[in-house]
Amino acid sequence: MIEKLKTVAWFARRPRFWPHMAALTAQRLGGATRHEALKDAAAAWAAERAVDIGRALAAIGVAEREQQLLDPALIDAGERRALRSGVRMGGPGDLDLIHRSVRATEARRVIETGVAYGWSSLAALAALRDTDGRLVSVDMPYPKMGNEAFVGIVVPPEWRDRWTLIREPDRHGIRRAVAAFDGAVDLVHYDSDKTYAGRMYGYPLLWRALVPGGVFISDDIQDNFGFRDFAARLGLTPAVVESGGKYVGLLRKP
Ligand SMILES: C[S@@+](CC[C@H](N)C(=O)[O-])C[C@H]1O[C@@H](n2cnc3c(N)ncnc32)[C@H](O)[C@@H]1O
Repeated sequence: MIEKLKTVAWFARRPRFWPHMAALTAQRLGGATRHEALKDAAAAWAAERAVDIGRALAAIGVAEREQQLLDPALIDAGERRALRSGVRMGGPGDLDLIHRSVRATEARRVIETGVAYGWSSLAALAALRDTDGRLVSVDMPYPKMGNEAFVGIVVPPEWRDRWTLIREPDRHGIRRAVAAFDGAVDLVHYDSDKTYAGRMYGYPLLWRALVPGGVFISDDIQDNFGFRDFAARLGLTPAVVESGGKYVGLLRKP
């Protein structure tokens, strides 16, 4: 009970987070957990379709001229910064997939949701240096964890001039991110609210902002059928990559 009150107090001090809290409450009252109960079936669906990164990119029509992996020295330096921070945050997306996707599409305008230590931000920004592009990220820090100061810690400080971090929940934050690019983006990486309802809120907003040919990547699609249903609604066949025991979905806007 005390923990619940502390959570309410944490949100109460942050008016911009209230729409997120209202959505969470509505989900709990509305029995949204039935979607999350289908986790095993969603994981089986993803596993059946999983291919390696090169084949997944080819399947959505993205040609790679050369395969350049993220410099391991960048990962080492990031790990040292993460260790020094002394805090624990969410795990990384598929860094090779993000890096290779940004490079292959020569994306210049990228939005991501979910930053935590900032591994996916690092992967995108490493590739965006070649295209002179920009990254806008949306992240609501975990309530009550006191991690705010360390969100994005693995990103080299000297790269921050091409990076904007919106420290808000998806509800509101995504709209701000899209507006930062005047409504047109080349690539999206979704790694924030993994509930079915959260995906159904964020995916369409991000999809609408993608330019034709733009690439949409969502992490942890095995959590529920949100990604599968979204792709079906669009009438598109997604590609799926297995990544360290979880699954990442890809779509390309026609
Ligand atoms: C798995 S971590 C992101 C990992 C990151 N993409 C990486 O590769 O290092 C998820 C992050 O999303 C944030 N998050 C969760 N729900 C959110 C929401 N509704 N809006 C914005 N951020 C959210 C969490 O606080 C956490 O920082």
